[in-house]
Amino acid sequence: MKGNEPSMKCLFEPSGIAVIGASHTRGKIGYRVLENIVAGGYAGKVYPINPRGGELLGLQVYGDLVEVETPVDVAVVVVPANTVFSAVEECARKGVKFAIIITSGFSEIGNTAEERKIADYAREHGLRIIGPNVFGLYSASASLNATFGPSDVKEGNVAIITQSGAIGIAMIGKTKVEGIGLSAMISVGNKSDVDETDLLEYLTFQDDSKVVLMYLEGVKSGERLVEVLKKATRRKPVVVIKSGRSTRGAQAAASHTGSLAGQDRVFDDVARQCGAIRAESIQEALNWCKFLPDAPEPMGEDVVVITNGGGIGVLTADACEKYGVNLSDDVAELKKSFECVMPSFGSAKNPVDITGGASPDDYDKALDVALANDTIDAVACLGCQTADFDANRFAAIAERRYDQYKSVKPIVFSLFGGAEIEQSIHELKLKGIPVFSDVYEMTSFLGALYMDYRNKSTEAPEVENVSIDTAAIDRVVAGARAGGRHFLLAHEAQEVMRAAGIVTPQSRIAHNPNEAIRYAEEIGYPVVMKVVSSDILHKSDAGGVALDLESEREVLDAYEAILRNCRAYKADAVIEGIQVDEMVHPGVEVIVGARRDGSFGPIVMFGLGGIYVEVLKDIAFRAFPLSREETLNMIGQIHSYPLLLGVRGEARKDIDEVASAIVKVGCVLRNCSAISDIEVNPLLVYEHGEGVKAVDVRILLREPEEA
Ligand code: ACO
Repeated sequence: MKGNEPSMKCLFEPSGIAVIGASHTRGKIGYRVLENIVAGGYAGKVYPINPRGGELLGLQVYGDLVEVETPVDVAVVVVPANTVFSAVEECARKGVKFAIIITSGFSEIGNTAEERKIADYAREHGLRIIGPNVFGLYSASASLNATFGPSDVKEGNVAIITQSGAIGIAMIGKTKVEGIGLSAMISVGNKSDVDETDLLEYLTFQDDSKVVLMYLEGVKSGERLVEVLKKATRRKPVVVIKSGRSTRGAQAAASHTGSLAGQDRVFDDVARQCGAIRAESIQEALNWCKFLPDAPEPMGEDVVVITNGGGIGVLTADACEKYGVNLSDDVAELKKSFECVMPSFGSAKNPVDITGGASPDDYDKALDVALANDTIDAVACLGCQTADFDANRFAAIAERRYDQYKSVKPIVFSLFGGAEIEQSIHELKLKGIPVFSDVYEMTSFLGALYMDYRNKSTEAPEVENVSIDTAAIDRVVAGARAGGRHFLLAHEAQEVMRAAGIVTPQSRIAHNPNEAIRYAEEIGYPVVMKVVSSDILHKSDAGGVALDLESEREVLDAYEAILRNCRAYKADAVIEGIQVDEMVHPGVEVIVGARRDGSFGPIVMFGLGGIYVEVLKDIAFRAFPLSREETLNMIGQIHSYPLLLGVRGEARKDIDEVASAIVKVGCVLRNCSAISDIEVNPLLVYEHGEGVKAVDVRILLREPEEA
């Protein structure tokens, strides 16, 4: 609990609840909420509030909340938007801890000022706000259904946090149909105060919730979400559906919730970094949520697939690659184990093919072998409908074997065929057995199970801290600000890199031809020369760059040519000097960047650099705090990673130094609030042990008032 904020437990297990705007009219939202609370069996005191007084659903109606004498932890506010503020004042006077504001008509339609006023007032008075623009809260631990959704909620172990009220309400019904039990369901709406991170933090430690499902459109306090998600996913699976993948979807999400949906690529990478299991669709998320709460943890990564059809086995192998499921490849062990159930023309290579003639008894034996074998950590059993395939007997065997091993080893099934098969799938699913009609669906569930297993079985990586000379960076920034600039000149950006411990090409600024020659000799030929002028941003276009200068004569000629070209390009440009740089050896060109993301705060970016970054967009993102392990994963994520490992006999490149450069660039941004963007492109990467060099560095500054 932060400061004197009320504990979230009071929200999910309130000692008393009021409905401000409990309506006497059946069908109105204020009536429905009260009806659900009463019907749900909430054991605490319930107080309908309505100036009309009287009685409602057998309860005394109070004209004002302050008339209530016993404590009220939660008030559900269902009055029109123009009276919400006074209802919130009433809550504060009564000492209510959480107000769930169902009312719409605030920031989602541009009425931001009123929403802010309510949230500010509430915060000043120690009252926390859920919403506005929400459908309410369901909490199984308090038998509390304070929503205007369906009254019959299936109780269970899945907690749902949703930004969309409509999706949330629909999910109450959908989860029931799918046989998924809920421990909690809450919508965050406009998130004027409490957001998904606050709720996730609570649900992480709530034992009844074994899985948390989040539907998100935009992220409000992303830096904190990263921290909380990392902790949550070490305890339980956190399944995330994030809409706004496409540009159109992102626009729709932004207008739908009034929040700005972040860039999807960034979200995807950061969610993965935190261990969240991102579903493509609501159905995929529900498929996972149905079976994850009861699935046993695998003991290791070796999965065996048993099939009666080669084709379906190959499809499953493809799906395993897609979803990060590792097929056991100990062929000798598999052969030894399965030879008793496999005809001579079967295959013991994983997928283990017990062939199209496999009878239910053959399946039974094969399952027995696989489940009893300690070298096999999880089993996927596939059945294609063949002439001999008896769906009912298969189902009976599947059920028996599943029950035998359900708390020991993960076992999943996929059946493919006609009406009898579909009927068996339906019946087995009702019994809570993970059976799917599509191998991709089955494997996506296994993939989710394995992501959760890896989250829990790997040590939390240690955050990497690097020391950078922030005083030196601040001096450079102050110089640029004094010159009225929102960007750093190339040599200033190089100075920032050096202050962060990143190697840059040797460089000096000459103010006359003799100085240029002297510097070239000190640096060593060949050299590069570039104009230094804040009036010329695109130096090459202005003829302000000369490469590969080998001698005193060439340096002199280049000096004159650069001045001549730049004056012709922009006659009034102030030329501060000519930079003489070491001509760097070629290396693999990568890009390293850092910026302040609207959702996640400081993030770093890495990818194949040079001119390719624009076209191939082979890039990866990570949020802070960052460990070395996560940084190395990020580097390994890009498709061009083999270029760094060394292709066609080339030596491995200095990947460790790339990782260091990424962390350092990120730390510069994180520690220097004046900087908004850093882009090193290219960062040249040399062979292992020979380091990296930041060749071109662009640094942009924030507006002084933002910094
Ligand atoms: N204190 C107590 N009760 C009050 C007060 C007050 N200050 N002011 C009014 N009331 C009573 C009214 O007398 C009325 O009771 P009655 O029906 O017995 O006369 C009751 O509160 C409701 O007031 P109405 O003026 O009738 O308001 P109505 O019920 O039409 O609408 C509502 C209120 C539901 C909050 C509406 O303004 C609204 O915002 N609707 C949208 C809700 C929504 O969709 N939220 C997002 C959910 S998520 C999703 O997208 C699905």
